[in-house]
Amino acid sequence: MNILETKQLYHDFSGLEVLFGVYLQVAEGERHAIIGPNGAGKTTLFNLITGTYRPSRGQVFFKGRNITGFQPHQLSRIGVGRSFQITSTFTRLTTFQNIRLAVLAKRGIHFNLFRYVDRMHDITRETEAVLERINLTAERDRPASALSYGKHRALEISLALATDPELVLLDEFAAGMSRDETHYAVELIRRLTVGKTVLIIEHDMDVVFSLADRITVLHRGQILATGSPAEIRQNQAVKDAYLGDLEI
Ligand SMILES: Nc1ncnc2c1ncn2[C@@H]1O[C@H](COP(=O)(O)OP(=O)(O)O)[C@@H](O)[C@H]1O
Ligand SMILES: [Mg+2]
Repeated sequence: MNILETKQLYHDFSGLEVLFGVYLQVAEGERHAIIGPNGAGKTTLFNLITGTYRPSRGQVFFKGRNITGFQPHQLSRIGVGRSFQITSTFTRLTTFQNIRLAVLAKRGIHFNLFRYVDRMHDITRETEAVLERINLTAERDRPASALSYGKHRALEISLALATDPELVLLDEFAAGMSRDETHYAVELIRRLTVGKTVLIIEHDMDVVFSLADRITVLHRGQILATGSPAEIRQNQAVKDAYLGDLEI
């Protein structure tokens, strides 16, 4: 079954067309990577799926339900989480406070202060459990801005996962990471996403080919190919348009 489908998605920025009829299918439980040259429309596609933008045409379906135009907080509640290409932590808050915000957002408690006070211990426990899972307990009370780059990105990945989403979208999580940090992040994702569906945008082909069960290649706003890593490696159109330069 497909957990996520986009049907004939189009998008333009003030008349500049960047996506042309994208029909993406992501099966439940798979790790699916979207690759393609800079400017292909990958981040825009994420923004349409996660409600940051509304498509000019087409629909997005999550578990068969039309979620086109849903707001990010609505998506978080039905089980869609995301991290961003650009840093999205609150850098002045501590690691603990950042994760607690994600836990609170999932529960939608910020609207009801009295219930929040009642459940505070519960929320603290859940936040600490997340910290433990991602090995950041030692960094609990440090502001996010004081974390190393790799740990900071690990925190962001964890924020996307703190709400225990069924589907998580990660946009270039390895960008700017050292080899060791990348390795650590890949292992973290593997460990934290068991039983979940993962959709990643990634430039690092080592990450793509070690993590993805299936790959979709986006090129100039259209899907060029979808298939297993082996199929994508051998696909002539993909080699011509993109992977040929990357020597994988
Ligand atoms: N907010 C925006 N306003 C105008 N043009 C944009 C905006 N965001 C992206 N674009 C353009 O849309 C195209 C696709 O961008 P993007 O989705 O970021 O590509 P990718 O993530 O594959 O590198 C590019 O030509 C980019 O310049
Ligand atoms: Mg991008």
